[in-house]
Amino acid sequence: MQIVDLADIKKQVATLGVAERFFDSIVLFALFDAGVLKHLSNGPRTLDELQGKIKGDRESLRAALDAGVALKILSKNGEAYQAPESLLECLGREKSPAYVGEWILFLQALAAPLLQFGEAIRTGARPGALFEDMSGDALPARRMTQAMDAYARSRGIEIADRLDFSQGGTLLDLGCGPGTYSLAIVERNPKIRATLLDLEGPIAEARRIVAARGFTDRVDFIAANAFTYVPAKTYDTVLVSNTLHMIGEEGSKALLKHVYKMVSPGGRLIVQAQYLNDNRTSPRWPALLNLLQRIATPDGRNHAITETSDWMRAAGFTDVHHVRFAVWNVNSCIIGTRPREE
Ligand SMILES: C[S@@+](CC[C@H](N)C(=O)[O-])C[C@H]1O[C@@H](n2cnc3c(N)ncnc32)[C@H](O)[C@@H]1O
Repeated sequence: MQIVDLADIKKQVATLGVAERFFDSIVLFALFDAGVLKHLSNGPRTLDELQGKIKGDRESLRAALDAGVALKILSKNGEAYQAPESLLECLGREKSPAYVGEWILFLQALAAPLLQFGEAIRTGARPGALFEDMSGDALPARRMTQAMDAYARSRGIEIADRLDFSQGGTLLDLGCGPGTYSLAIVERNPKIRATLLDLEGPIAEARRIVAARGFTDRVDFIAANAFTYVPAKTYDTVLVSNTLHMIGEEGSKALLKHVYKMVSPGGRLIVQAQYLNDNRTSPRWPALLNLLQRIATPDGRNHAITETSDWMRAAGFTDVHHVRFAVWNVNSCIIGTRPREE
């Protein structure tokens, strides 16, 4: 009989502990997607009560609930399953300010292609080419845009409080997605007028969001490709937020040069992003966002602070400086000025 070496078991436990982490995501996605968290938001429920609401396959529902308890996502008291309040605020109650359901749907859409990342390395394949169809009502465009809104409307909103827009003027939000940051700036600064520019799909979603929040009188929309769009006038401020990582190094250098002509002399360019530190191995989320670009976009990759600042200087911007926000806000900004005299 072979004697099992305890030291080997410990090595396996540590290795499999990493390999099996995806089960946490899968169970959480399933509990959200099937509506379990919504149905638990008013208190503990038994399997029968949940199945009465959700219908579907009873054994699969039970498997997800029991795995949720095993993974400590849920708990079970007698026959009743329950979820912690913090989870229900984030994923059970749509009206909660902490709600991030749209973000979870986006992560779920990316999870399957991310499992093919080895293939991306071996062959250069892009198994999650989510952004190919950015037209009209295409689901990837809607899902991505709604996910961006979920982050921006809570933790990300700081840009509107920390940067000074009190002088007013015109703001062009290039690659605006939902336009949430611009809306926050417009809301806090009555003298600002914003123009939101993105591809057709995200602009359709931005129109819906702006109308729902009641700012259509100070917001204009342009459905266009940022690389080829030539505005009729320049803008006091141009905001490029979380967009350069989708187009990679060469695309970013080219876009920043193009954007320079859109900024009024004396005006500023704000490049907000979820920057990597220059070591490229931290912080955690920017390093993961980097992975994501490699499966979901043709040329994207996440960028670091110094390289982005260098590209802005090469495009002609001066006084280029980096502004950090609160520790819980993964965004930060690099700001540059178009000189008055050239
Ligand atoms: C990750 S989203 C960020 C959205 C928003 N600015 C934010 O910070 O939440 C990037 C946006 O850039 C847009 N984008 C990418 N390439 C573009 C291009 N060539 N022209 C216009 N928009 C583009 C995408 O459609 C998408 O809405």
